[in-house]
Amino acid sequence: MVSQIEKRKADHLRLSATKDVSFHEKTTLLECVELNYKCLPQISMNDVDLSTEFLGKKFSFPFIVSAITGGAAVSKKVNTDIAEACQAIGIGMGLGSMRAMLQHPSLTETYFVRDVAPDIFLAGNIGAAQLKQFSPDDLNGALGAIEADALAIHLNAAQEAVQPEGDADFSGLIEKIAEFADKISVPVYVKEVGHGVSYEVAFALKDTKIKAIDTQGAGGTSWTAVDSLRHKTGFGEIFRDFGLPTAVSLMQVKSAIHGTGKKVIASGGIRNGIDAVKALVLGADMVGSAMPMLKAQTKNGSAGIKKQLTDLKKEMEIASFLVGCKNIAQLHSEKPIILGKLKEWMEN
Ligand SMILES: Cc1cc2nc3c(=O)[nH]c(=O)nc-3n(C[C@H](O)[C@H](O)[C@H](O)COP(=O)(O)O)c2cc1C
Repeated sequence: MVSQIEKRKADHLRLSATKDVSFHEKTTLLECVELNYKCLPQISMNDVDLSTEFLGKKFSFPFIVSAITGGAAVSKKVNTDIAEACQAIGIGMGLGSMRAMLQHPSLTETYFVRDVAPDIFLAGNIGAAQLKQFSPDDLNGALGAIEADALAIHLNAAQEAVQPEGDADFSGLIEKIAEFADKISVPVYVKEVGHGVSYEVAFALKDTKIKAIDTQGAGGTSWTAVDSLRHKTGFGEIFRDFGLPTAVSLMQVKSAIHGTGKKVIASGGIRNGIDAVKALVLGADMVGSAMPMLKAQTKNGSAGIKKQLTDLKKEMEIASFLVGCKNIAQLHSEKPIILGKLKEWMEN
């Protein structure tokens, strides 16, 4: 049984890093957001400081490496490489679903990164559909064992629905999320896995104690596409392009939770610092991405991820400078220019 889980996790990593698992038709729609370029920014680029705090932890810039893995021997190396890079740069990371370690505690080791990353923001992870299988106490024990700072609950209806053996019973899960947000000993946030959180879902979660929503919108990695490679008999390929573009998801989530104090992470297809800054101008508190980090890790280990993150930070600083903003608060007061398909989508 353990080796079956290990095989699934290793398959996910290998297929994602080597095959085409991206959206084909749909994009993030961040290309429909223009930044208001100031050719005379009236600040020095040295004054740009994008450092921030998120759920009680400090970040040198507002970036989280999205959940990728846990549960296989190969996960240990991937998580350690990501964690080392995050510790060096001063940002946070999400671990992959903890289902494997909850079922097989011997796999806990594959998630543990505090030896190399004592200070980073570290999020544990579990699927919403699995909240029926485990108790808040089970999760609290597991989160304690890996010394996590938060729990990300992932919503992956599209992924479960296209798998031949997926668990697509999502009934009663808003209530379950509310219960876990109450009883988990660290802050809880909700994330998608690449098909986007909509207004309705964010609104339904508005009165729970979750602290943030991570859009994980369409336009980057398609989890239905990943599954189509694992299950030739499933419906993954047909649903490759299903979901809400990241820019749409971000604007809808912002609007749904307005005034609650909950934070928003923009993610799903964020591939450079300009897109990341566009997301901040649209109101995101943080940004995140998974695939570019996995690819950098596969090629060059921790050094590859460090280079990727250093470049991303610099790109974000340059983009902020070019719109005349020194920090995230100023970016939040910038007016985004919204064009084309994104404008049409938001008018619906
Ligand atoms: C190999 C791999 C494994 C993943 N495993 C998980 C997971 O266990 N839990 C989760 O919430 N998201 C998981 N994700 C989804 C990512 O966190 C993210 O939502 C998705 O890849 C979209 O972001 P991207 O376009 O930047 O890759 C995984 C992604 C990849 C590439």
